[in-house]
Amino acid sequence: MRFTSSVFTAWLALGLACHCALLLRHAEAVTLSTASRWIVDEAGDRVKLACVNWPSHLEPMLAEGLSKRPVGSIAGDVAAMGFNCVRLTWPTFMVTNASYTSLTVAQSFQRLNLTEPLAGIRANNPALVDLRLIDAFKAVVSSLGENNLMVILDNHVSMPKWCCSNTDGNGFFGDAYFQPDVWVDGLTKMATTFAAVPNVVGMSLRNELRGPRQNANDWYKYMQRGAEAVHAANPRALVILSGLSYDNDLAFLSSRQVTLSFARKAAFEVHWYSFSNSQDWASSNPNEACARIGASVSRRALYLLDQGWPVFLSEFGVDNRGGNANDNRYYGCAAAVAADLDLDWALWTLQGSYYLREGVRDLDEVYGVLDRSWRNPRNATALRRVRALQRAFRGPGFAEAAPYVALFHPSTGLCVARRSSPVSPLELGSCEGAEAWAYDAQRQRLALRDSPLMCLRAEGAGRPVRVGMACATDEMARWRLVSDSKLHVAANASSGAGMLCLDVGADGRSVVTNTCRCLSADNSCDPESQWFKLVSSTRRVGARSMLAQPPLKLKDLKIRSL
Ligand SMILES: *[C@@H]1O[C@H](CO)[C@@H](O)[C@H](O)[C@H]1NC(C)=O
Ligand SMILES: *[C@@H]1O[C@H](CO)[C@@H](O)[C@H](O)[C@H]1NC(C)=O
Ligand SMILES: *[C@@H]1O[C@H](CO)[C@@H](O)[C@H](O)[C@H]1NC(C)=O
Ligand SMILES: *[C@@H]1O[C@H](CO)[C@@H](O)[C@H](O)[C@H]1NC(C)=O
Repeated sequence: MRFTSSVFTAWLALGLACHCALLLRHAEAVTLSTASRWIVDEAGDRVKLACVNWPSHLEPMLAEGLSKRPVGSIAGDVAAMGFNCVRLTWPTFMVTNASYTSLTVAQSFQRLNLTEPLAGIRANNPALVDLRLIDAFKAVVSSLGENNLMVILDNHVSMPKWCCSNTDGNGFFGDAYFQPDVWVDGLTKMATTFAAVPNVVGMSLRNELRGPRQNANDWYKYMQRGAEAVHAANPRALVILSGLSYDNDLAFLSSRQVTLSFARKAAFEVHWYSFSNSQDWASSNPNEACARIGASVSRRALYLLDQGWPVFLSEFGVDNRGGNANDNRYYGCAAAVAADLDLDWALWTLQGSYYLREGVRDLDEVYGVLDRSWRNPRNATALRRVRALQRAFRGPGFAEAAPYVALFHPSTGLCVARRSSPVSPLELGSCEGAEAWAYDAQRQRLALRDSPLMCLRAEGAGRPVRVGMACATDEMARWRLVSDSKLHVAANASSGAGMLCLDVGADGRSVVTNTCRCLSADNSCDPESQWFKLVSSTRRVGARSMLAQPPLKLKDLKIRSL
């Protein structure tokens, strides 16, 4: 879907989701660089990457889904769902290996006997069928550009196939299909090909380095070479360097910096899934798991933020069917971290299905934002909660409001919302309409930023919290962040009946207190509804509060997001 001028004007008038200047510039070149840990535009203003992954690196080497819908419709939906960018994957051999470089889309599918998807491509994207693969790839990039979407080209594997294992020959420099010279040649070709394409803003050098050959010395040797090659061919692109051990590990950089001939154009990326820690989430107390695993992600990657590097969370995501306890506990914790640090990120993943993955045709992708038909969101609830992270909370040049604290509820992606009147009860609503708080940890006071004498008060178990006046003397208005995760916001019950924690009421929207749940030790209980993160924000406050909505169809989403 393209922005029609009337819809676009309505969107501007609403004043929502507006990085307007950036958006208007997208039709022209967007040039990103870095300013300490932030990614910024030419004016030095923050550009938050809110991307979704879209694979184009499996055997057919065509962006998934084009047998089911026209490329422009998919790109339009990506924009309508609020993403501003796509991490588009590609395999080295598509541009370096004579067995693949001359293939057309039709030949690539015929070679794999993918007759049905090829017929689908003919029906939905007839213009692509007889293009060479690289030209079809360009057409996808260009369609994303027409929808104001930035693109990060991600070198995902060498040989086109599903990624990854330690022994698939694509894991590290020197593996069977991973010759450094071929890789640098591929990066150079892609950087050159897309140097003049306005919406290609970055290139990530290699996805998930891994396997028995991996070592830090070779990492420096080759990643620096790859970075220089990309920069030489396309000085405009942001160069993104991934770590070892499936992009879970950048710890080695703490003792030895990367050496590059250029400045302000490099960032790092990290991946973080629940299964990065096996079943730790499901088999531990969630507060303890969140603290332990969060600290470990910090030690391995996010510490680089404090050293003045952007760290792009380029893969994270969950089974969108909602039945995976490991994923669900992880998501609340990871989303709290992503909001707190206001990370740049790319969700895994867009695709509802694959033409062919690991030998299976039309494989369903349960992590996908879209369902198998590529027409509707797989799970509107799961999509909504990631939408809370799409806009910047803070950063250079991003100050729609004076700094405040938003009470963010990661498991729903909602915030304690601005009340329509001083006496109306507190409810969860869109973070676009968050209530502005000021938290004083020493005095344990959670007050309205603009009315410091008015502060949050517990009223008892199961009862809605209120904003009241007697802040100084009132035990029930003293709040601490408790448990290892510090995600429980707790007050003492006046009856001496223990601690009460902020929670979501049975109606799914009111903000209440309940007895604090599984603060420690208990492995079987899920505290996520009591997880709130105090997020520093300069986002506009007082926008029309958009409260919890019923599940949406994509068609509605398009209108609502504008
Ligand atoms: C080209 O691709 C084939 C098939 O995937 C592979 O076996 C071969 O090693 C590749 N050649 C080079 C030079 O990368
Ligand atoms: C495609 O089908 C032909 C004929 O049935 C068969 O010989 C060939 O092995 C198949 N190729 C693949 C990649 O499945
Ligand atoms: C959608 O996701 C939510 C949140 O994880 C989950 O509770 C719900 O069961 C999911 N619904 C469907 C239909 O998959
Ligand atoms: C609750 O009371 C206990 C004991 O008086 C005290 O140690 C604790 O800090 C209080 N908790 C809160 C949240 O105020």
